Amino acid sequence: VELNHLHRTGFHFQPKRHWINDPNGPMYYNGIYHFFYQYNPKGAVWGNIVWAHSVSTDLINWKPLPPAIYPSKPFDQYGTWSGSATILPGNKPIILYTGIIDENNTQVQNYAIPANYSDPYLQKWIKPNNNPLVFPVGVNKTAFRDPTTAWFGKDGHWRILVGGRRKHRGMAHLYRSRDFMKWTKAQHPLHSSAMTGMWECPDFYPVSLDSENGLEVSVIEGNIKHVLKVSLDETRYEYYTIGKYFTKIDKYVPDNTSIDSWARLRYDYGNFYASKTFFDYGKNRRILWGWANESDTSIEDVKKGWAGIQTIPRKVWLDKSKKQLAQWPVEELETLRRRKVHLSNQKLNLGDHVEIKGITAAQADVEVTFSFPSLDKAEAFDPSWVNMDAQELCKHKGSTVQGGVGPFGLLTLASQQLEEYTPVFFRVFKAKDNHVVLMCSDATSSSLKKKLYKPSFAGFVNVDLAENKLSLRSLIDNSVVESFGAGGKTCITSRVYPTLAVFKDAHLYVFNNGTETVTVENLDAWSMNYPLMN
Ligand code: FRU
Repeated sequence: VELNHLHRTGFHFQPKRHWINDPNGPMYYNGIYHFFYQYNPKGAVWGNIVWAHSVSTDLINWKPLPPAIYPSKPFDQYGTWSGSATILPGNKPIILYTGIIDENNTQVQNYAIPANYSDPYLQKWIKPNNNPLVFPVGVNKTAFRDPTTAWFGKDGHWRILVGGRRKHRGMAHLYRSRDFMKWTKAQHPLHSSAMTGMWECPDFYPVSLDSENGLEVSVIEGNIKHVLKVSLDETRYEYYTIGKYFTKIDKYVPDNTSIDSWARLRYDYGNFYASKTFFDYGKNRRILWGWANESDTSIEDVKKGWAGIQTIPRKVWLDKSKKQLAQWPVEELETLRRRKVHLSNQKLNLGDHVEIKGITAAQADVEVTFSFPSLDKAEAFDPSWVNMDAQELCKHKGSTVQGGVGPFGLLTLASQQLEEYTPVFFRVFKAKDNHVVLMCSDATSSSLKKKLYKPSFAGFVNVDLAENKLSLRSLIDNSVVESFGAGGKTCITSRVYPTLAVFKDAHLYVFNNGTETVTVENLDAWSMNYPLMN
């Protein structure tokens, strides 16, 4: 097998070759999903960035088109960076993106429109000469990028956010416009937070309090809450808060103070960055795209000729607790399911691992529910751990460290003798007056190869254990393990590069390493087919 195919994904979004990063301007327009992304047409490292373009009718099978936006004008000569699409009244899409105008990395906001609205693929985009729309006046000009989808206020003004920073304070600058062409900066950012550094790729949208359906961004009042997500340039992870948008004063206030504490919420506690949502008018849902970079060295990226994937598009909605979001792979993914195996009532005692045979374990979709008779044997949650984040705890309490209730879960991309495996698992702790559930996706033993980044990604799962059950879904795809704990409350994506556990030599197991016996109540696993992928 060719080296550049060894870790290529089977059903995750990838172009044929070269570097990709942020998802850009996703939209659903006249029955077609458009997906743009930051792309280097010349190599497998970041640089020469254009907006590559693909179209789909199901978010799973993708047809590539020529780049839609690329440097060609004084207002974007040095770069066409991230941005978003808005569908204007009259069913007219418009893209806002960041242009780099000089060697000093000065950032402006530009727009582009389709050359021909009746071309179903919207192949060609025009960048009119009244660009740029927004100059970096009164802001840090090298920290001023990634405009959001625009929403429309009751006062007849459009609004957008642009990511920024003042010294070390991260912020979402707010701009208003009556005609979408002349934009005025609001005196105060929509929101900001001290010591967070540059806020890249802000995203701001409403979520319904009484339905899992998505909402269009211009729904700004009613039985709703708002979500603000930012990508932190310095730490390379994202966080979001749920809060209230005070429309009269154009301020967003997070519901709690979790923003700078250990409890900050993330879409994904693994390799996931520069994400962006859009409202899918076709199915009334909000869909989230996120980029997962490689965890290998860039020398290896160049050797294999490609770098970066997009995670599977996820439906996103407000969880029943109203304190966090929930996410689930779009239902269309299920059209790729082929051979299925089923397991039920399988007891797992301390130290057991049982193989799930009969599917292509290197490229699979697995849904499993575990149960346990009680929580009595849960390990004590050491009060000194409150200042430890989930990732540190997982590193310390790996899948082979015996516990009480857990660790139990899946061993994905495992070699026959377990020289290599990526465990995705839960561990339940007993704290003073509640239980704490830790979910890990641990790359430590994922590959015999050295010099790889092998983090022990982890997040806590805020779940009700009254029924003594925990569910897990993992999308396993050669070099990706994308997992959804407790119905999508906690999600973790890992990039791993096994050397033995590849193709037919990859195996899948369920395991338990806790003293409490765990039962696999139900497990369904499918081999996953290849979609049309660019
Ligand atoms: C985030 C980011 C954006 C920028 C783009 C450049 O990954 O740095 O802030 O617009 O990528 O490719």
